[in-house]
Amino acid sequence: MEHHSHDIVIIGGGAAGLRAAIAAVELDPKLDVAVVSKVYPMRSHTVSAEGGMAAVLRDYDNFDSHAFDTIKGSDFLADQDSVEFFVKEAPREAIQLEHWGCPFSRDPDGRISSRAFGGMTVKRTLFATDKIGFHLLHTLFQTSLKYENIHRYDEWFVTSLLVDNGRVEGVTAIEIRTGELVPILGKAVIIATGGCGRIFQFTTNGWIKTGDGMAIAYRAGVPLKDMEMVQYHPTLLPNTGILITEAARGEGGYLLNKDGERFLKKYVPNKMELGPRDILSRAEMSEINAGRGFEGPYGSYVHLDLTHLGKITIEDKLPFVKELAERYVGIDPEHEPIPVRPGQHYMMGGVHTDLHGFTGMPGLYAAGEVACVTMNGANRLGSNSLTECLVFGAEAGKAAAQYASKLASPSFGNPVDGETMMEEKRIFDRLLKHEQGERVSTIRTEMQNGMEKYVGIYRDENGLREACKLIGSLKARLTNGIVEDQDHVYNTELVSALELDFMLDVAETIPYSAILRHESRGAHYRTDFTKRDDVNFLKHSMAHKTSGPPRIDYSPVTITRWKPEERVY
Ligand code: FUM
Repeated sequence: MEHHSHDIVIIGGGAAGLRAAIAAVELDPKLDVAVVSKVYPMRSHTVSAEGGMAAVLRDYDNFDSHAFDTIKGSDFLADQDSVEFFVKEAPREAIQLEHWGCPFSRDPDGRISSRAFGGMTVKRTLFATDKIGFHLLHTLFQTSLKYENIHRYDEWFVTSLLVDNGRVEGVTAIEIRTGELVPILGKAVIIATGGCGRIFQFTTNGWIKTGDGMAIAYRAGVPLKDMEMVQYHPTLLPNTGILITEAARGEGGYLLNKDGERFLKKYVPNKMELGPRDILSRAEMSEINAGRGFEGPYGSYVHLDLTHLGKITIEDKLPFVKELAERYVGIDPEHEPIPVRPGQHYMMGGVHTDLHGFTGMPGLYAAGEVACVTMNGANRLGSNSLTECLVFGAEAGKAAAQYASKLASPSFGNPVDGETMMEEKRIFDRLLKHEQGERVSTIRTEMQNGMEKYVGIYRDENGLREACKLIGSLKARLTNGIVEDQDHVYNTELVSALELDFMLDVAETIPYSAILRHESRGAHYRTDFTKRDDVNFLKHSMAHKTSGPPRIDYSPVTITRWKPEERVY
């Protein structure tokens, strides 16, 4: 059987994956690194990030302030050692990016510009107008091209991890162009596939965010941590779910209800539009539920008003917001408010790792949104995630390089060839060969609607039970899912079926983790347990794969210097 072999295999070509690749080859130039991505790297979801990346670069700022804002934002579920490590590494990563040529916006004195962002006490979000993701990803991609020992597998879809004797030995992947399943061996594997927003019906996430990396790690025995913590962002366009960046509020935009009132004064009077996302999303829903929202063809919404900011601020600092509002809702934000409503944006939970991206399985690392390191706890602050991809992408790259440098190459033979054959059977003999059954898209839509309805901004016992039941039945139905396109070449329908199979496994961990957390904390809001309960729930949930429903156990939260206190803004 044909196979490929590298020292390190990185799954995902976004910010965390590329940063990890660069860190690995810089640490040991002899290493041979593969970046395997189901899309061309510049199409990774990082490209859609808008507002900026947080780092302490100014005299008025300091590490403790960034750390405390992050920990308070997390509703005290973040591991404080991770946060302290993160805030200290963040400036180094920002400067490194600048040296690699990232075209940040500049103040008149030449320094990188920084803006206000939700939950941050000072302006520390570094930006490149409102297109940081595009510029950051280009910068990393171009830098990665300098290294001849970074090999790319563009449009290869990873289907499983190859594990021998508890140690990762590579991956199986379908080359989408040919439809062939090929093992790609590696001494170490880094998962950097991003989040799983497409489990939900209304999300900012691109169609590629299907939780692939979470699912393959989970199936291989690594727990998924804090999966009940799902972030809703307060400002999405109601028709498409396209993100209108928090930078619009950072630059002074207002949220208004249908009475023209800045309603946040009732919910976060000291922070107003710069409150954290969990509280703002719930505030919008409270206004809508009280009849103070607007009604439109795509449901209820509130207004994001930028008209007082003026042409120069909008054109200089928020050009993408203007373009998106004009193109997708036909509104010129210089003259009219933008309709917005909350929608799924980010997963605080993910593959359990330590500070260096290590998952606990020898050779396996994870970084970026797919991972739960955990620095975001129950609610991430906007603009921390790109920095997280850089800081922990670099860490995972270095740790994997140190590990791989010491090992001999894995040899192709049993059991990895056996595992590859079993994977071929699963995909081509079973999934692709069903002659009758249900369409994958029907099952996917039911999953997305159910997750939105039962595991969204508000949750309760009955709804979560329904979600557990629903996902269980959808998993059973998918065993009879049909893929109508039987061709092997560019079979995107087959890829969608495999993605749905991943999504259902990951989706299931969310209500199963949420139902046991009898409290409200950060983004996890239980209408039947409305208070935070530190006595019983200051702990991380860990979802483990079994042959039945996930098994949930817990691990402690690391507190270093900041005792949990009431979270008031
Ligand atoms: O609103 C935004 O620009 C999102 C930023 C983030 O999620 O970090």
